[in-house]
Amino acid sequence: SLKSSYDNIIVSEPSPGVALLTLNRPKALNALCDALLDDLIHAANHFDKSKECGAIVITGSDKAFAAGADIKEMSSRKFDEVFMKNMFKQWGDVAAIETPTIAAVNGFALGGGCELAMMCDIMIAGDKAKFGQPEINLGVIPGCGGTQRLIRAVGKSKAMEMCLTGNMIGAEQAERDGLVCRVVPAESLVDEAVKMGSKIASKSQVAAKMAKETVNAAYELNLAEGLRFERRMFHALFATEDQKEGMAAFIEKRDANFVHR
Ligand code: CAA
Repeated sequence: SLKSSYDNIIVSEPSPGVALLTLNRPKALNALCDALLDDLIHAANHFDKSKECGAIVITGSDKAFAAGADIKEMSSRKFDEVFMKNMFKQWGDVAAIETPTIAAVNGFALGGGCELAMMCDIMIAGDKAKFGQPEINLGVIPGCGGTQRLIRAVGKSKAMEMCLTGNMIGAEQAERDGLVCRVVPAESLVDEAVKMGSKIASKSQVAAKMAKETVNAAYELNLAEGLRFERRMFHALFATEDQKEGMAAFIEKRDANFVHR
């Protein structure tokens, strides 16, 4: 269950069905230390299991969504240590959240910050957002999906430029490149993300989770297998009350009243 408070994040429920997790280590520009990641995963798992929650929004501050993994925390670690504890493996828990997730990015999303945003299903950027994979400047490479998710989002040449030069891109370019779905004025970013979350939360939650799982399957499967998986998931939805209700509501020209479990 949710803790009454967390040291490194702020948890709120700004709208029915929407959880807002705000990264809150302002002095370190939300650098993603182990303790912050523990807090984030703990709270996200709580909402992932909650019947009421239909969307999770993750955001940071105006200055930084997150400036990456915590360089001070990891700088003196030795190979044996990072290998044996499989550093960053736990980040997979964020990508494994089944509830739709939205990253609302203002300011810097660098290194692990950009990777965290890419683990979310949808990214909305404030107009001053900056994205980058600057690990190359530290003598390392991205370790939480930057080389893998970026290439799928923006293609090889742009992903290579970011990973090899460490250059940042701004919000407008991130939208052109397909990394973010939409750019909004920085001051309305969180409202817009919550509004989108609330729209998603109003749908059939079974259908929303299946849509997420099926879109994500496209990362892993070839086209024939992906299409087969999609079609079988589509068939499965005919076992739900929500499909009957959604289609009846259309025919009766009224709003659907989906079951909330
Ligand atoms: N880790 C630890 N501390 C960090 C940090 C990070 N990733 N990013 C910023 N901070 C700290 C700074 O050390 C500074 O702390 P002090 O006040 O104690 O000195 C504080 O946050 C404010 O930062 P700056 O003074 O640097 O702020 P700025 O406005 O001058 O610069 C910035 C902002 C360009 C984002 C700059 O902070 C920066 O380059 N940060 C590092 C970005 C980076 O390299 N990220 C990749 C990390 S590695 C990684 O993420 C691996 C992976 O794949 C998971």
